Amino acid sequence: MIRFASFGKAFGTHVAVTGLDLTIEGGETVALLGPNGSGKTTCLKAAAGLILPSSGQVLVDGIPASRPKARQSLSFLPQKVAFPEALTGLEVVEFYRKLRGAPAGRDREVLRFASLNGASERFVGTYSGGMVQRLGLAVAALPDSPVLLLDEPTAALDPEGLCAFYALVEKRKKQGKTVLFTSHHLGDVERLADRFAVLVGGRLAAVLSSTELASRLAERGVLRLRLDRRPENLLEALRPLSPAATWSGDELILPGPASGRPALIDAVRAAGAGILSLTADEGRLDALYSELVGGKE
Ligand SMILES: Nc1ncnc2c1ncn2[C@@H]1O[C@H](COP(=O)(O)OP(=O)(O)O)[C@@H](O)[C@H]1O
Ligand SMILES: [Mg+2]
Repeated sequence: MIRFASFGKAFGTHVAVTGLDLTIEGGETVALLGPNGSGKTTCLKAAAGLILPSSGQVLVDGIPASRPKARQSLSFLPQKVAFPEALTGLEVVEFYRKLRGAPAGRDREVLRFASLNGASERFVGTYSGGMVQRLGLAVAALPDSPVLLLDEPTAALDPEGLCAFYALVEKRKKQGKTVLFTSHHLGDVERLADRFAVLVGGRLAAVLSSTELASRLAERGVLRLRLDRRPENLLEALRPLSPAATWSGDELILPGPASGRPALIDAVRAAGAGILSLTADEGRLDALYSELVGGKE
């Protein structure tokens, strides 16, 4: 269990996070979402005990995160991972395995899981960015700690790395572990998280379930059509289905969720128009961020 209680952090005069109250229950997976600079890394570093709160508290299983005892129960993947370039992947993993007291066979297991088996004898200095990130995931997967903290785990991952990341989180979820990870974009993370905590400008703007997040984004979708003609009263006919229906030049703009689009298309055709082209956009996360803090798109 991770608990942020009125957590605040300032760097000098710069306030990074203010008054954060958030509890990640045991066995829960929570994604911390937010634009760059919104305070996600600051929260994770505080949970990992690497920085001290300026105000409030961060507790891991009831213990202040800064105490070494709290750190024993967690595994942390930093946003920027770096390993000594003159060591091989295997040597890096062995070093951390011994540090964390994980069993001997675990080295090979995590390297295989991170698809680095073939490269494990090579120097880290020869690794690509994606491989270094995968090595970071392998290291994070070493201990069987009850709490997993992952900062932007998908940012530099190639498809193979993404699969390893999904596998790691899904395995830890099945084992009943607590997972907190950050992301500044969706696409990779929706299916993994039970809840989404949205940070904007260092404040918690919303906590949404995955269904709530999906529907908030879907509501912001837009269907755009080009038609062969403009039947009279077309907008009036469409407004019950898409209240904000409007023309933009020769394009018909129909805001609304994806689920409403088949009916809109049927209604356009029923009005006697042929569809020349069709595009659809889904809601964007940045638009949701600004909506959550009361801004304009
Ligand atoms: N060590 C630091 N010194 C000064 N400012 C910092 C430091 N770490 C983070 N910040 C600032 O705090 C804010 C939040 O940063 P961060 O937690 O890294 O955001 P995120 O991970 O969401 O991109 C940013 O404005 C950042 O510039
Ligand atoms: Mg960050």
